[in-house]
Amino acid sequence: MKESIVICSGISKVYDTVFHQVIALDNLDIEIKKNKLTAIIGPSGSGKTTLLNLIAGIDRITSGQIICCDVDYSFLSDDQLAAFRRQNIGFIFQLYHLLPTLNVIENVMLPLLPYQRSLEFDLREKALQVIEWVGLGNRINHLPAELSGGEQQRVAIARALINDPLLLLADEPTGNLDSKTSFEIVRLFRTLMEKKDLTIILVTHDLRISAESDYIYTLRDGRLDGDIRKSLFSCSNL
Ligand SMILES: Nc1ncnc2c1ncn2[C@@H]1O[C@H](COP(=O)(O)OP(=O)(O)OP(=O)(O)O)[C@@H](O)[C@H]1O
Ligand SMILES: [Mg+2]
Repeated sequence: MKESIVICSGISKVYDTVFHQVIALDNLDIEIKKNKLTAIIGPSGSGKTTLLNLIAGIDRITSGQIICCDVDYSFLSDDQLAAFRRQNIGFIFQLYHLLPTLNVIENVMLPLLPYQRSLEFDLREKALQVIEWVGLGNRINHLPAELSGGEQQRVAIARALINDPLLLLADEPTGNLDSKTSFEIVRLFRTLMEKKDLTIILVTHDLRISAESDYIYTLRDGRLDGDIRKSLFSCSNL
């Protein structure tokens, strides 16, 4: 079994705007190890969300190569890439992106609702299961506005798990939470990784959260420093 689930080789992302080009990622290499928690840290604008979006197949690289679960994205059409994402990837957005008029279970079912008939499992049963995993079994009929921030984040996590992803991408999942709730979320990630065949990439501004991960990479101006976990935490009290 290969030990890397994602291999990015020399990837660049250039955004064309009206007046100039923005080089968001600049010839970057990164390998993500299976069944590990990898943290990506870095200043605002350094390319963290861009990197997650590219690995998720939400956006396309300008140059380079991304191989995820042994699939080279450059060989996939947009429709094939969307189907690949649906089958293999869960994405947790920073601002939850829950629909305010849908209750918890409806929000969790939403990504697979259009495909309900072709699924080999019962979508509602599956939704109830992932809601249990995140500890919200007693909140399934609540609307997002009737939940705390941490609970809303848990709904977003449940929704990202509805397709049994191999790879979970989380963009600042604790950005709006107090530190106690943040650590609960990271602990939940660890539990999910142990229970399931799951790999997690976590973008965070919070060094204490990244300290809970197996690998830490820093992005700066679209370039990546190597894994800094050992050097950082062997010589500090964090
Ligand atoms: N659609 C876009 N068009 C043009 N430029 C973009 C676009 N998306 C991002 N950028 C630019 O690319 C760079 C990287 O953006 P990105 O969103 O990846 O940063 P980030 O590290 O996630 O920042 P933050 O911590 O603030 O979320 C920034 O300079 C940003 O302005
Ligand atoms: Mg971002």
